[in-house]
Amino acid sequence: MKIISSIEELRDHLRGQLRTAFVATMGNLHEGHLSLMRLARTHGDPVVASIFVNRLQFGPNEDFDKYPRTFQNDVEKLEKEGVYVLFAPTEKDMYPEPQEYRVQPPDGLGNILEGEFRPGFFTGVSTVVMKLFSCVQPRVAVFGKKDYQQLMIVRNMARQFALPTEIIGAETFRADDGLALSSRNGYLSSDEREEAPALYRALNQVADEVRGGRLNTSDIEKAAMDVLAQRGWQPDYISIRKRIDLQPPSAGDMAQGEKLVVVAAARLGKTRLIDNLEI
Ligand code: PAF
Repeated sequence: MKIISSIEELRDHLRGQLRTAFVATMGNLHEGHLSLMRLARTHGDPVVASIFVNRLQFGPNEDFDKYPRTFQNDVEKLEKEGVYVLFAPTEKDMYPEPQEYRVQPPDGLGNILEGEFRPGFFTGVSTVVMKLFSCVQPRVAVFGKKDYQQLMIVRNMARQFALPTEIIGAETFRADDGLALSSRNGYLSSDEREEAPALYRALNQVADEVRGGRLNTSDIEKAAMDVLAQRGWQPDYISIRKRIDLQPPSAGDMAQGEKLVVVAAARLGKTRLIDNLEI
């Protein structure tokens, strides 16, 4: 595997590759990331991965400085997966001058749910993903459904800018107890790690109630948030949304069997976890 940090060298190295499959990451790789690499391989060749902790998508009080950086380990894992190039730019490579041009998702999608609790997050994500696409020029790119709203924003961005990159969504990789794998799980104490699958259970509780025919979404959401709060969590939201646009379903949508997803974000101690479940 070739490790490249400069954009120019990356372009030279990938010149003429028409079927590149790309996976963007911030490193600290776990099985979830590796499952994205494997899915990428089924959609293209060569597989290119990136590791870049993107300052633009972190708020001033978020965990940019303490975000886990485990580069050597990550390299070994990617080598085992047969990744062809790892693009690992420094901040200077990626942002040699202040990144003043940014990609701003529409308010109705970028400022709801995660965007409401993390202002500017999706502008930071969209900007870096657009720039990574410009560097790698992939034919396909794989993003995990774990970051459901991110996947939708990237997919809509690619469509509206007519990017020549097909966006593939990958199923969430879960531990045996249901916890969705995430780099931030490493922040959990052992007690918190035991408690953490309660978030997935809460999502399942919501999904069961919707499947059982309950129509009042706010009652269902509130009950699930109450359960978490009683267990010591601080839920930001548990929300039933339409899969098509992440807007709340109307009573008519509910009655007509609109395709739904329940999305959640909650803090356990100092760690903020997100997860979702398609219903
Ligand atoms: O999902 C992530 O790890 C990041 O948001 C991404 C897509 C690599 C952009 O920095």
